Amino acid sequence: MEAPGSPAALPPLRTPLRSVRVPGYEMDAPGLLPMHANTNLLGQNPAVLREARAVRGLESNQYPTENSETLCAALAEAHGLPRSWFVAGNGCDEIFDLLAKTFLDPGDAMAYPVPAFVMYRFYASVNLGRPVEIPLQDDGRRWSLDVEGLLATRARVIVVASPNNPTGNAFPAEQLRDLVRRAPGVVAVDEAYADFCGQNLVPETRRAPNLVVLRTFSKAHGLAGLRVGYAGAQPALSDALRRAKPPFNVSAFSERAAARALREPAFWKRSVRVLPAEREKAMAAVRALGCRTWESDANFFLMKAPRPVAEALKSRGILVRDVSRHHPSLAGCVRVTVGDAKTNRRFLKALEASL
Ligand SMILES: Cc1ncc(COP(=O)(O)O)c(C=O)c1O
Repeated sequence: MEAPGSPAALPPLRTPLRSVRVPGYEMDAPGLLPMHANTNLLGQNPAVLREARAVRGLESNQYPTENSETLCAALAEAHGLPRSWFVAGNGCDEIFDLLAKTFLDPGDAMAYPVPAFVMYRFYASVNLGRPVEIPLQDDGRRWSLDVEGLLATRARVIVVASPNNPTGNAFPAEQLRDLVRRAPGVVAVDEAYADFCGQNLVPETRRAPNLVVLRTFSKAHGLAGLRVGYAGAQPALSDALRRAKPPFNVSAFSERAAARALREPAFWKRSVRVLPAEREKAMAAVRALGCRTWESDANFFLMKAPRPVAEALKSRGILVRDVSRHHPSLAGCVRVTVGDAKTNRRFLKALEASL
């Protein structure tokens, strides 16, 4: 008999799990400044602290509602659409999982532009779908979308992040509308960072039955640790997603904190004002040090230094994301999350010393 825990004692793993890996996120690096995960570097959202003080009213011995009704009602009010149009997820990561589970039979295509958020490949693969990657075009300053290439895949699901991670830029709304109009299947526009540039395609779902817009509380609202995201779409599409969704997928506290963040938006307002402004200053300083940058509409930017800097920055206490590990087309590039002026000055000082 095999010893307990021995891999030979297990049945074979699902085929994609033999090659697919969740990327290492390096979230357990105490003492390092985390400019690598595109989180909100302005700190804790005070709305969460206020909700934590009200926690006594939380019946934590009871399950929350199956479909995060309180949060969906708050989202409905914020977006001016009915509550049934919203599906809450354990981060918008869970919504990608739901999209694949809902629409892909084994071998069906899920298409997206690359370089992209690495989890698209993960969720398509682990759900036995077929990730189809269509390269973005590097125009020198921005990265542009190959709409015809995406449409030619005839994929059941097309995912486009706007602003895109890791390149940073948003795509023109007219181009996204064109993609949605002509796509044979569902188009998911991932607006995780859209608050930083004022883009909002949620109202477009009124006209487009195949459009689902994904948003998160992890970025501008600063709630990454509470894991709350959502999808907005017409009822046929949102009902379909709920079929694949486990009940109670958002914790009672996370739901309440997210709803409070919507009701009390002071931190969000400061984030969407301060972070893009500081990003522009930091990028100008990075270029003055001889590095290349690409335009960004998010709370991070992509840069290329004349020599590798990720390890040198880490030795100076700063974590950035070496994106060349996952994206061969980005050899020598790092992605940097911006913070306030003081945080960015610390980064710039360390970068100067690293070069
Ligand atoms: C483009 C993009 N979409 C979605 C997410 C995940 O968001 P959430 O924290 O809501 O799962 C990220 C996180 O970095 C991202 O970069």
